[in-house]
Amino acid sequence: MSRQLKLGAFLMATGHHVAAWRHPDVPANAGLDFAHYKRLAQIAEAAKFDTLFVADSVAAPTQDIASRMARSDHFEPLTLLSALSAVTEHIGLIATATTSYNEPYHVARKFASLDHLSGGRAGWNLVTSDNAAEAQNFGRDEHIGHAERYSRAREFHQVVTGLWDSWQDDAFIRDKASGAYYHPEKLHVLNHVGEHFRVKGPLNVARSPQGQPVIVQAGSSETGRELAAQTAEVVFTAQTSLASAQAFYADLKGRLPKYGRSADSLKIMPGVFVVVGQTEAEAQEKYETFQQLVEPEVGVALLGRMLGNFDLSKYPLDGPLPELPLTESGQQSRQKLLTELAGREHLTLAELGRRIAGGRGHYSVVGTPAQIADRLQEWFEQGAADGFNVLVPHLPGGLQDFANGVVPELQRRGLFRTEYEGRTLRQNLGLARPGNRFA
Ligand SMILES: Cc1cc2nc3c(=O)[nH]c(=O)nc-3n(C[C@H](O)[C@H](O)[C@H](O)COP(=O)(O)O)c2cc1C
Repeated sequence: MSRQLKLGAFLMATGHHVAAWRHPDVPANAGLDFAHYKRLAQIAEAAKFDTLFVADSVAAPTQDIASRMARSDHFEPLTLLSALSAVTEHIGLIATATTSYNEPYHVARKFASLDHLSGGRAGWNLVTSDNAAEAQNFGRDEHIGHAERYSRAREFHQVVTGLWDSWQDDAFIRDKASGAYYHPEKLHVLNHVGEHFRVKGPLNVARSPQGQPVIVQAGSSETGRELAAQTAEVVFTAQTSLASAQAFYADLKGRLPKYGRSADSLKIMPGVFVVVGQTEAEAQEKYETFQQLVEPEVGVALLGRMLGNFDLSKYPLDGPLPELPLTESGQQSRQKLLTELAGREHLTLAELGRRIAGGRGHYSVVGTPAQIADRLQEWFEQGAADGFNVLVPHLPGGLQDFANGVVPELQRRGLFRTEYEGRTLRQNLGLARPGNRFA
């Protein structure tokens, strides 16, 4: 069978557009409405999406403007995906968990549990936290610096994956007749001692259906790419154009051989923000409906956060983007992307805030299913993507539009599955099941 693209449904409570919560079709309490998420999961699974993807931050914003944004209350991702595992059968479940404000034992245990609960559908989006406010919820005044976060992340990953191999696949026999619960020689105690962590192990969860949950990474700076090349099986990235996505794709795949990895062992899935209409005019009109709801100060607050935790409220709305230092606390890759966008198009602060209010800097396509499929096909066939994490302006409507329009179009072109290939996320993504390092 020819190569087909992978699709993730990025579930962002009310939707990706910052003003979506004010739209009449959107439940404003979506962030804590399980029935809403259940419906999203079922729409995505019926459309044969590979994964549900849930981002995270372990802090709520407190600036004045935050009271006008729907960002302050939402489910914790692993809890949410555990509940969704019970109402779905095939779709992958990717939760974000930070390596900066967690302990590896906790993370290893929770994701192994989710993999068991879901019959092998768990994925961990390993991030280092791009929200500076998290530090103060975990006993620190300042966020951990960029390089230090990645150093901790690398060791965190080693410990988590080591704990996942605590038991060989057939360690637990639970033999009532002989009284043997497990084979002692199939237990492996990690005894990790490193710069950041001391973790003895073993994990108190048997090796999970996928052997190890799928490792996803979102971070596209130089250091982020290197960590991804070493550890990630799926990479989520923000790219503005075909050319930049091709360069990123070639760069990241080019780093794999040095870690003894094949190009196929890592799937690159850029985000794509899509607004679907029956006609191009209808799609534009839909998009404008959301854009009209953006208050300039709200757009600029989102921009400041995406640029790497800057307060831009003191700068004139109709002035240019001010010169900012390289972010230590946020996403350096996104800062670069947004700064280049502002310069290239000579946008004022308010215009840039408005521009990213939906896609947040991700590649954006507003059009008919065929027009959107054309762009996805182009990226997929021209070395820019193995698939896409799909961002829609509002939920559930935007996801339903994509499922009803774009998915059948991709299927007609032979670019997307009509049935799930396997039972586990690894099988559907075409990723090998890792062997146990100790076996
Ligand atoms: C597309 C994308 C999505 C991300 N999603 C999250 C997230 O949900 N939560 C989070 O704390 N960090 C997220 N990050 C940022 C990571 O924490 C990243 O490790 C860190 O900010 C550094 O990014 P950089 O390598 O681009 O500088 C994301 C980054 C990218 C590029």
